[in-house]
Amino acid sequence: LPMTADVKDDHLYVGGVDMVELAHEMGTALYVMDEADLRHRMATYREAFRSRYPNSDIAFASKAFLNKEMARIVNEEDLCLDVSGGGELAVAQAAGFPMERVVVHGNNKTPLELREAIQAGVGRIVIDSRIELARISEIAGDLGVEQAIYMRITPGVEADTHEYIRTGCEDSKFGFNMRDDWAFNCVKDVLAAPNVRLAGLHCHIGSQIFALHSYPEAVEIMVELMARIRDEYGYEIDEFDVGGGVGIAYAADDQPASIDQFAEIVTSSVREACAKHGVKEPRLLTEPGRSIVANAGVTLYAVGILKTLPGIRKYVAVDGGMSDNIRTALYHANYEPVIANKAGQPRTEIVTIAGKHCESGDAVVIDMPLQHPDLGDIVCVFGTGAYCYTMASNYNGQPRPAIVFVKDGEARVTTRRETYADLMSRDI
Ligand code: LLP
Repeated sequence: LPMTADVKDDHLYVGGVDMVELAHEMGTALYVMDEADLRHRMATYREAFRSRYPNSDIAFASKAFLNKEMARIVNEEDLCLDVSGGGELAVAQAAGFPMERVVVHGNNKTPLELREAIQAGVGRIVIDSRIELARISEIAGDLGVEQAIYMRITPGVEADTHEYIRTGCEDSKFGFNMRDDWAFNCVKDVLAAPNVRLAGLHCHIGSQIFALHSYPEAVEIMVELMARIRDEYGYEIDEFDVGGGVGIAYAADDQPASIDQFAEIVTSSVREACAKHGVKEPRLLTEPGRSIVANAGVTLYAVGILKTLPGIRKYVAVDGGMSDNIRTALYHANYEPVIANKAGQPRTEIVTIAGKHCESGDAVVIDMPLQHPDLGDIVCVFGTGAYCYTMASNYNGQPRPAIVFVKDGEARVTTRRETYADLMSRDI
Protein backbone atom coordinates (compact mmCIF):
# COMPACT_ATOMS: atom_id res chain seq x y z
CA LEU A 1 0.00 0.00 0.00
CA PRO A 2 1.10 3.57 -0.52
CA MET A 3 2.09 5.13 2.80
CA THR A 4 -0.82 7.60 2.77
CA ALA A 5 -3.55 5.11 1.79
CA ASP A 6 -6.68 5.56 3.85
CA VAL A 7 -10.36 4.64 3.72
CA LYS A 8 -13.20 7.09 4.41
CA ASP A 9 -16.88 6.29 3.80
CA ASP A 10 -15.84 3.19 1.86
CA HIS A 11 -13.73 5.30 -0.52
CA LEU A 12 -10.00 4.76 -0.94
CA TYR A 13 -7.82 7.85 -0.47
CA VAL A 14 -4.17 8.19 -1.47
CA GLY A 15 -2.25 11.37 -0.71
CA GLY A 16 -5.45 12.77 0.75
CA VAL A 17 -7.18 12.44 -2.64
CA ASP A 18 -10.35 10.40 -3.19
CA MET A 19 -9.36 7.78 -5.80
CA VAL A 20 -12.96 7.39 -6.97
CA GLU A 21 -13.38 11.09 -7.67
CA LEU A 22 -9.94 11.24 -9.26
CA ALA A 23 -10.80 8.37 -11.61
CA HIS A 24 -14.04 10.08 -12.64
CA GLU A 25 -12.32 13.41 -13.17
CA MET A 26 -9.19 12.23 -15.01
CA GLY A 27 -10.48 9.08 -16.70
CA THR A 28 -9.19 5.54 -16.51
CA ALA A 29 -6.87 3.70 -16.77
CA LEU A 30 -4.83 6.06 -14.61
CA TYR A 31 -1.43 5.81 -12.92
CA VAL A 32 -1.32 7.52 -9.52
CA MET A 33 1.88 8.13 -7.54
CA ASP A 34 1.94 8.96 -3.84
CA GLU A 35 4.64 11.61 -3.70
CA ALA A 36 5.10 11.48 0.08
CA ASP A 37 5.62 7.74 -0.15
CA LEU A 38 8.30 7.81 -2.81
CA ARG A 39 10.13 10.72 -1.18
CA HIS A 40 10.02 8.84 2.11
CA ARG A 41 11.54 5.72 0.55
CA MET A 42 14.27 7.73 -1.13
CA ALA A 43 15.15 9.36 2.19
CA THR A 44 15.02 5.98 3.93
CA TYR A 45 17.52 4.52 1.45
CA ARG A 46 19.79 7.55 1.65
CA GLU A 47 19.85 7.56 5.44
CA ALA A 48 19.97 3.77 5.82
CA PHE A 49 23.18 3.72 3.79
CA ARG A 50 24.78 7.02 4.87
CA SER A 51 24.24 6.37 8.58
CA ARG A 52 26.13 3.08 8.24
CA TYR A 53 28.50 3.99 5.46
CA PRO A 54 28.94 7.76 4.98
CA ASN A 55 30.75 7.47 1.65
CA SER A 56 27.69 6.16 -0.17
CA ASP A 57 25.11 7.25 -2.72
CA ILE A 58 21.79 5.95 -3.95
CA ALA A 59 21.10 6.02 -7.68
CA PHE A 60 17.43 5.64 -8.51
CA ALA A 61 17.03 3.11 -11.36
CA SER A 62 14.91 5.03 -13.82
CA LYS A 63 13.95 1.90 -15.73
CA ALA A 64 11.47 1.28 -12.91
CA PHE A 65 9.69 4.60 -13.45
CA LEU A 66 10.63 7.90 -15.06
CA ASN A 67 9.06 11.09 -16.21
CA LYS A 68 10.38 14.64 -15.88
CA GLU A 69 8.67 15.22 -12.55
CA MET A 70 10.22 12.06 -11.15
CA ALA A 71 13.69 13.15 -12.30
CA ARG A 72 13.16 16.49 -10.54
CA ILE A 73 12.12 14.76 -7.31
CA VAL A 74 15.10 12.37 -7.45
CA ASN A 75 17.34 15.43 -7.75
CA GLU A 76 15.62 17.23 -4.86
CA GLU A 77 16.10 14.15 -2.69
CA ASP A 78 19.83 14.22 -3.41
CA LEU A 79 19.93 10.86 -5.18
CA CYS A 80 21.91 9.93 -8.27
CA LEU A 81 20.14 8.57 -11.35
CA ASP A 82 20.77 5.31 -13.20
CA VAL A 83 19.72 5.58 -16.85
CA SER A 84 19.84 2.72 -19.30
CA GLY A 85 20.14 4.49 -22.59
CA GLY A 86 19.80 7.70 -24.54
CA GLY A 87 16.05 8.05 -23.99
CA GLU A 88 16.16 8.03 -20.21
CA LEU A 89 19.20 10.29 -20.37
CA ALA A 90 17.26 12.77 -22.51
CA VAL A 91 14.42 12.87 -19.95
CA ALA A 92 16.93 13.49 -17.15
CA GLN A 93 18.58 16.28 -19.14
CA ALA A 94 15.25 17.91 -19.95
CA ALA A 95 14.38 17.85 -16.24
CA GLY A 96 17.66 19.63 -15.42
CA PHE A 97 19.12 16.63 -13.61
CA PRO A 98 22.84 17.22 -12.85
CA MET A 99 24.74 15.07 -15.33
CA GLU A 100 27.66 14.36 -13.01
CA ARG A 101 25.25 12.34 -10.85
CA VAL A 102 24.12 10.12 -13.72
CA VAL A 103 25.24 6.50 -14.17
CA VAL A 104 24.68 5.06 -17.66
CA HIS A 105 23.84 1.38 -18.11
CA GLY A 106 23.05 -0.97 -20.95
CA ASN A 107 24.58 -4.05 -22.54
CA ASN A 108 24.42 -2.50 -26.01
CA LYS A 109 24.49 1.26 -25.81
CA THR A 110 24.83 2.46 -29.37
CA PRO A 111 27.83 4.56 -30.38
CA LEU A 112 25.40 7.49 -30.72
CA GLU A 113 24.08 6.95 -27.18
CA LEU A 114 27.64 6.79 -25.88
CA ARG A 115 28.50 10.04 -27.64
CA GLU A 116 25.38 11.74 -26.25
CA ALA A 117 26.26 10.57 -22.74
CA ILE A 118 29.91 11.60 -22.89
CA GLN A 119 29.01 14.94 -24.45
CA ALA A 120 26.40 15.53 -21.76
CA GLY A 121 29.10 15.00 -19.12
CA VAL A 122 27.59 11.99 -17.34
CA GLY A 123 29.40 10.99 -14.17
CA ARG A 124 29.87 7.30 -14.87
CA ILE A 125 29.35 4.90 -17.76
CA VAL A 126 29.14 1.23 -16.86
CA ILE A 127 30.98 -0.74 -19.52
CA ASP A 128 29.62 -4.11 -20.46
CA SER A 129 32.07 -5.39 -23.08
CA ARG A 130 35.49 -4.85 -24.64
CA ILE A 131 33.87 -3.47 -27.78
CA GLU A 132 32.21 -0.78 -25.72
CA LEU A 133 35.48 0.07 -23.99
CA ALA A 134 37.06 0.76 -27.37
CA ARG A 135 34.11 2.91 -28.44
CA ILE A 136 34.12 5.00 -25.28
CA SER A 137 37.85 5.47 -25.44
CA GLU A 138 37.61 6.69 -29.03
CA ILE A 139 34.63 9.00 -28.52
CA ALA A 140 36.11 10.53 -25.34
CA GLY A 141 39.34 11.11 -27.28
CA ASP A 142 37.39 12.79 -30.07
CA LEU A 143 35.68 15.07 -27.58
CA GLY A 144 38.90 15.72 -25.70
CA VAL A 145 37.65 14.43 -22.34
CA GLU A 146 38.42 11.63 -19.92
CA GLN A 147 35.38 9.49 -19.10
CA ALA A 148 35.03 7.80 -15.72
CA ILE A 149 33.75 4.25 -16.09
CA TYR A 150 32.65 1.28 -14.04
CA MET A 151 33.18 -2.27 -15.22
CA ARG A 152 30.17 -4.53 -14.90
CA ILE A 153 31.14 -7.91 -13.48
CA THR A 154 28.87 -10.98 -13.27
CA PRO A 155 30.06 -12.56 -10.04
CA GLY A 156 28.43 -15.94 -10.73
CA VAL A 157 25.94 -15.72 -7.88
CA GLU A 158 22.59 -17.38 -8.54
CA ALA A 159 20.02 -15.16 -6.89
CA ASP A 160 16.62 -16.50 -6.02
CA THR A 161 14.23 -14.65 -8.34
CA HIS A 162 12.37 -15.06 -11.65
CA GLU A 163 14.73 -16.31 -14.34
CA TYR A 164 13.93 -13.38 -16.67
CA ILE A 165 15.26 -10.88 -14.13
CA ARG A 166 18.19 -12.91 -12.78
CA THR A 167 21.40 -11.35 -14.01
CA GLY A 168 24.40 -12.22 -11.87
CA CYS A 169 24.95 -15.78 -13.06
CA GLU A 170 27.72 -16.85 -15.43
CA ASP A 171 25.54 -17.37 -18.47
CA SER A 172 24.38 -13.79 -18.82
CA LYS A 173 24.42 -11.31 -21.66
CA PHE A 174 25.53 -8.69 -19.14
CA GLY A 175 29.01 -7.71 -18.13
CA PHE A 176 32.24 -9.67 -17.78
CA ASN A 177 32.15 -13.00 -15.98
CA MET A 178 34.92 -14.41 -13.83
CA ARG A 179 35.47 -17.68 -15.68
CA ASP A 180 39.06 -18.22 -16.82
CA ASP A 181 39.92 -14.78 -15.41
CA TRP A 182 38.05 -13.06 -18.22
CA ALA A 183 37.03 -10.08 -16.08
CA PHE A 184 40.43 -9.84 -14.43
CA ASN A 185 42.23 -9.89 -17.78
CA CYS A 186 39.89 -7.27 -19.22
CA VAL A 187 40.71 -4.92 -16.34
CA LYS A 188 44.23 -4.73 -17.77
CA ASP A 189 42.84 -3.50 -21.09
CA VAL A 190 40.64 -1.00 -19.31
CA LEU A 191 43.64 0.37 -17.41
CA ALA A 192 45.61 0.65 -20.63
CA ALA A 193 42.85 2.35 -22.63
CA PRO A 194 43.34 6.08 -23.25
CA ASN A 195 40.72 8.70 -22.31
CA VAL A 196 38.97 6.49 -19.78
CA ARG A 197 39.48 6.18 -16.06
CA LEU A 198 38.43 3.03 -14.22
CA ALA A 199 36.53 4.54 -11.29
CA GLY A 200 34.88 1.40 -10.01
CA LEU A 201 33.37 -2.03 -10.35
CA HIS A 202 29.68 -2.81 -10.70
CA CYS A 203 27.60 -5.92 -10.21
CA HIS A 204 23.87 -6.57 -10.22
CA ILE A 205 22.72 -10.02 -9.16
CA GLY A 206 19.06 -9.58 -10.03
CA SER A 207 15.82 -7.90 -9.13
CA GLN A 208 13.00 -8.70 -6.65
CA ILE A 209 15.41 -10.65 -4.43
CA PHE A 210 14.17 -11.78 -1.03
CA ALA A 211 17.11 -13.91 0.13
CA LEU A 212 19.70 -11.39 1.28
CA HIS A 213 22.49 -13.99 1.65
CA SER A 214 23.27 -13.58 -2.07
CA TYR A 215 24.67 -10.09 -1.37
CA PRO A 216 27.56 -11.04 0.94
CA GLU A 217 28.44 -13.79 -1.54
CA ALA A 218 28.61 -11.32 -4.43
CA VAL A 219 30.37 -8.67 -2.34
CA GLU A 220 33.09 -11.11 -1.27
CA ILE A 221 33.79 -12.04 -4.90
CA MET A 222 33.88 -8.39 -5.96
CA VAL A 223 36.15 -7.23 -3.15
CA GLU A 224 38.47 -10.16 -3.72
CA LEU A 225 38.71 -9.02 -7.34
CA MET A 226 39.54 -5.48 -6.15
CA ALA A 227 42.34 -6.92 -4.01
CA ARG A 228 43.75 -8.84 -6.97
CA ILE A 229 43.61 -5.75 -9.16
CA ARG A 230 45.56 -3.84 -6.53
CA ASP A 231 48.10 -6.64 -5.96
CA GLU A 232 48.72 -7.59 -9.56
CA TYR A 233 48.09 -4.34 -11.45
CA GLY A 234 48.95 -1.88 -8.67
CA TYR A 235 45.62 -0.09 -9.14
CA GLU A 236 43.22 0.89 -6.38
CA ILE A 237 39.48 0.71 -7.16
CA ASP A 238 37.73 3.74 -5.62
CA GLU A 239 34.06 2.88 -6.07
CA PHE A 240 31.77 -0.12 -5.90
CA ASP A 241 28.23 -0.23 -7.27
CA VAL A 242 26.23 -3.18 -5.90
CA GLY A 243 23.30 -2.83 -8.32
CA GLY A 244 19.55 -2.88 -7.66
CA GLY A 245 17.63 -2.71 -4.42
CA VAL A 246 15.65 -5.02 -2.22
CA GLY A 247 12.51 -6.91 -3.30
CA ILE A 248 9.04 -5.69 -2.32
CA ALA A 249 5.74 -7.16 -1.16
CA TYR A 250 3.24 -7.41 -3.99
CA ALA A 251 0.87 -9.56 -1.96
CA ALA A 252 0.14 -9.77 1.76
CA ASP A 253 2.10 -12.98 2.26
CA ASP A 254 5.28 -11.71 0.55
CA GLN A 255 7.94 -11.11 3.22
CA PRO A 256 10.74 -9.02 1.78
CA ALA A 257 13.56 -7.59 3.85
CA SER A 258 13.32 -3.94 4.88
CA ILE A 259 15.47 -1.22 3.35
CA ASP A 260 17.32 -1.07 6.68
CA GLN A 261 18.04 -4.80 6.72
CA PHE A 262 19.21 -4.57 3.13
CA ALA A 263 21.49 -1.61 3.90
CA GLU A 264 22.84 -3.41 6.96
CA ILE A 265 23.80 -6.56 5.09
CA VAL A 266 25.28 -4.72 2.12
CA THR A 267 27.32 -2.22 4.11
CA SER A 268 28.52 -4.72 6.70
CA SER A 269 29.53 -7.23 4.06
CA VAL A 270 31.47 -4.55 2.17
CA ARG A 271 33.22 -3.53 5.40
CA GLU A 272 34.04 -7.12 6.35
CA ALA A 273 35.29 -8.08 2.90
CA CYS A 274 37.46 -4.93 2.73
CA ALA A 275 38.95 -5.66 6.15
CA LYS A 276 39.59 -9.28 5.22
CA HIS A 277 41.37 -8.37 1.98
CA GLY A 278 43.04 -5.21 3.28
CA VAL A 279 41.24 -3.15 0.63
CA LYS A 280 40.39 0.54 1.15
CA GLU A 281 36.62 0.93 1.66
CA PRO A 282 35.26 2.20 -1.66
CA ARG A 283 32.53 4.76 -2.25
CA LEU A 284 29.42 2.60 -2.30
CA LEU A 285 26.60 3.00 -4.78
CA THR A 286 23.25 1.18 -4.81
CA GLU A 287 20.71 1.39 -7.64
CA PRO A 288 17.23 0.64 -6.29
CA GLY A 289 14.24 1.09 -8.58
CA ARG A 290 11.34 -1.11 -7.62
CA SER A 291 11.60 -0.66 -3.85
CA ILE A 292 11.39 3.13 -4.23
CA VAL A 293 8.42 3.38 -6.58
CA ALA A 294 6.44 0.12 -6.72
CA ASN A 295 4.41 0.59 -3.56
CA ALA A 296 4.04 4.32 -4.12
CA GLY A 297 2.08 3.69 -7.31
CA VAL A 298 -1.44 2.44 -7.93
CA THR A 299 -3.42 2.00 -11.13
CA LEU A 300 -7.10 2.89 -11.35
CA TYR A 301 -9.45 1.20 -13.81
CA ALA A 302 -13.21 1.23 -14.40
CA VAL A 303 -15.14 -2.03 -14.55
CA GLY A 304 -16.74 -2.32 -18.00
CA ILE A 305 -17.86 -5.94 -18.34
CA LEU A 306 -18.75 -8.70 -15.87
CA LYS A 307 -18.86 -12.28 -17.07
CA THR A 308 -19.49 -15.31 -14.88
CA LEU A 309 -18.62 -18.71 -16.28
CA PRO A 310 -20.43 -21.03 -13.85
CA GLY A 311 -18.06 -23.42 -12.14
CA ILE A 312 -15.09 -21.90 -13.87
CA ARG A 313 -14.39 -18.29 -13.08
CA LYS A 314 -15.73 -14.76 -12.76
CA TYR A 315 -14.18 -12.25 -15.13
CA VAL A 316 -14.12 -8.55 -14.36
CA ALA A 317 -12.94 -6.70 -17.46
CA VAL A 318 -11.32 -3.30 -17.01
CA ASP A 319 -10.32 -0.51 -19.39
CA GLY A 320 -6.60 -1.30 -19.49
CA GLY A 321 -4.50 -4.40 -18.98
CA MET A 322 -1.30 -5.67 -20.51
CA SER A 323 -0.75 -2.33 -22.29
CA ASP A 324 -0.33 -0.52 -18.95
CA ASN A 325 0.86 -3.50 -16.88
CA ILE A 326 2.51 -6.38 -18.70
CA ARG A 327 3.94 -7.90 -15.53
CA THR A 328 1.10 -10.34 -14.89
CA ALA A 329 1.28 -11.76 -18.43
CA LEU A 330 5.08 -11.75 -18.48
CA TYR A 331 6.07 -12.91 -14.98
CA HIS A 332 2.80 -14.12 -13.44
CA ALA A 333 3.17 -11.18 -11.08
CA ASN A 334 0.82 -11.09 -8.15
CA TYR A 335 -1.14 -7.96 -7.25
CA GLU A 336 -3.78 -7.20 -4.68
CA PRO A 337 -6.68 -5.15 -6.00
CA VAL A 338 -9.47 -3.34 -4.18
CA ILE A 339 -12.66 -1.71 -5.39
CA ALA A 340 -11.92 1.91 -4.55
CA ASN A 341 -15.60 2.80 -4.01
CA LYS A 342 -16.10 -0.24 -1.71
CA ALA A 343 -12.73 -0.16 0.02
CA GLY A 344 -14.19 -0.59 3.51
CA GLN A 345 -16.21 -3.66 2.54
CA PRO A 346 -15.09 -7.27 2.89
CA ARG A 347 -13.70 -9.17 -0.09
CA THR A 348 -16.43 -11.71 -0.74
CA GLU A 349 -15.59 -13.01 -4.21
CA ILE A 350 -12.73 -14.56 -6.11
CA VAL A 351 -12.35 -12.89 -9.48
CA THR A 352 -9.99 -12.59 -12.40
CA ILE A 353 -9.51 -9.02 -13.51
CA ALA A 354 -9.01 -9.20 -17.25
CA GLY A 355 -7.78 -6.42 -19.48
CA LYS A 356 -9.31 -5.23 -22.75
CA HIS A 357 -6.66 -6.66 -25.04
CA CYS A 358 -6.98 -9.37 -27.65
CA GLU A 359 -5.09 -12.08 -25.77
CA SER A 360 -6.22 -14.66 -23.25
CA GLY A 361 -3.12 -14.00 -21.16
CA ASP A 362 -4.17 -10.37 -20.72
CA ALA A 363 -4.98 -10.26 -17.02
CA VAL A 364 -4.24 -7.79 -14.25
CA VAL A 365 -4.86 -10.31 -11.46
CA ILE A 366 -5.89 -13.96 -11.59
CA ASP A 367 -8.27 -15.50 -9.04
CA MET A 368 -7.91 -12.88 -6.34
CA PRO A 369 -10.37 -11.97 -3.59
CA LEU A 370 -12.31 -8.78 -4.27
CA GLN A 371 -15.38 -6.93 -3.03
CA HIS A 372 -18.56 -7.72 -4.98
CA PRO A 373 -18.02 -6.01 -8.37
CA ASP A 374 -20.60 -3.96 -10.26
CA LEU A 375 -20.39 -2.18 -13.59
CA GLY A 376 -18.77 1.23 -13.22
CA ASP A 377 -16.85 0.35 -10.07
CA ILE A 378 -13.33 1.77 -9.82
CA VAL A 379 -10.74 -0.93 -9.32
CA CYS A 380 -7.46 0.09 -7.72
CA VAL A 381 -4.43 -2.17 -8.13
CA PHE A 382 -1.62 -1.64 -5.61
CA GLY A 383 2.09 -1.97 -6.19
CA THR A 384 2.08 -0.82 -9.82
CA GLY A 385 4.51 2.09 -9.49
CA ALA A 386 7.45 0.09 -10.85
CA TYR A 387 7.92 -1.42 -14.31
CA CYS A 388 4.37 -0.71 -15.44
CA TYR A 389 4.47 2.74 -17.04
CA THR A 390 8.03 2.16 -18.30
CA MET A 391 7.00 -1.15 -19.90
CA ALA A 392 3.69 0.16 -21.27
CA SER A 393 2.72 -0.20 -24.91
CA ASN A 394 0.07 0.92 -27.36
CA TYR A 395 -1.10 -2.62 -28.03
CA ASN A 396 -4.51 -2.66 -29.71
CA GLY A 397 -4.15 1.08 -30.20
CA GLN A 398 -4.50 1.78 -26.51
CA PRO A 399 -3.31 5.28 -25.57
CA ARG A 400 -1.02 5.18 -22.52
CA PRO A 401 -2.62 6.41 -19.28
CA ALA A 402 -1.85 9.75 -17.68
CA ILE A 403 0.37 9.90 -14.58
CA VAL A 404 -0.97 11.87 -11.63
CA PHE A 405 1.08 12.70 -8.54
CA VAL A 406 -0.96 13.12 -5.37
CA LYS A 407 0.13 14.89 -2.21
CA ASP A 408 -1.64 16.63 0.69
CA GLY A 409 -5.06 16.41 -0.93
CA GLU A 410 -3.84 17.82 -4.28
CA ALA A 411 -3.57 15.93 -7.55
CA ARG A 412 -1.41 17.13 -10.43
CA VAL A 413 -1.00 15.59 -13.86
CA THR A 414 2.71 15.09 -14.50
CA THR A 415 2.32 13.18 -17.79
CA ARG A 416 -0.86 13.68 -19.78
CA ARG A 417 -2.86 10.81 -21.23
CA GLU A 418 -1.96 9.89 -24.79
CA THR A 419 -4.46 10.81 -27.47
CA TYR A 420 -5.41 9.08 -30.70
CA ALA A 421 -3.42 11.83 -32.44
CA ASP A 422 -0.35 10.75 -30.45
CA LEU A 423 -0.79 7.24 -31.79
CA MET A 424 -0.32 8.43 -35.35
CA SER A 425 1.89 11.43 -34.73
CA ARG A 426 4.92 9.64 -36.17
CA ASP A 427 3.19 8.13 -39.18
CA ILE A 428 4.21 9.60 -42.53
N1 LLP B 1 20.60 -1.80 -11.70
C1 LLP B 1 20.63 -2.58 -12.79
C2 LLP B 1 21.87 -2.72 -13.55
C3 LLP B 1 19.46 -3.25 -13.20
O1 LLP B 1 19.51 -4.02 -14.27
C4 LLP B 1 18.27 -3.09 -12.46
C5 LLP B 1 17.05 -3.75 -12.87
C6 LLP B 1 18.29 -2.25 -11.34
C7 LLP B 1 19.46 -1.63 -10.99
C8 LLP B 1 17.06 -1.99 -10.50
O2 LLP B 1 16.64 -3.12 -9.83
P1 LLP B 1 15.44 -3.01 -8.75
O3 LLP B 1 15.92 -2.21 -7.58
O4 LLP B 1 14.29 -2.33 -9.42
O5 LLP B 1 15.17 -4.41 -8.40
N2 LLP B 1 10.89 -5.58 -15.55
C9 LLP B 1 11.16 -6.41 -14.40
C10 LLP B 1 12.37 -5.96 -13.63
C11 LLP B 1 13.62 -5.90 -14.47
C12 LLP B 1 14.77 -5.40 -13.68
C13 LLP B 1 15.87 -5.02 -14.58
N3 LLP B 1 17.00 -4.46 -13.93
C14 LLP B 1 9.92 -6.43 -13.51
O6 LLP B 1 8.95 -5.82 -13.87
O7 LLP B 1 9.92 -7.08 -12.47
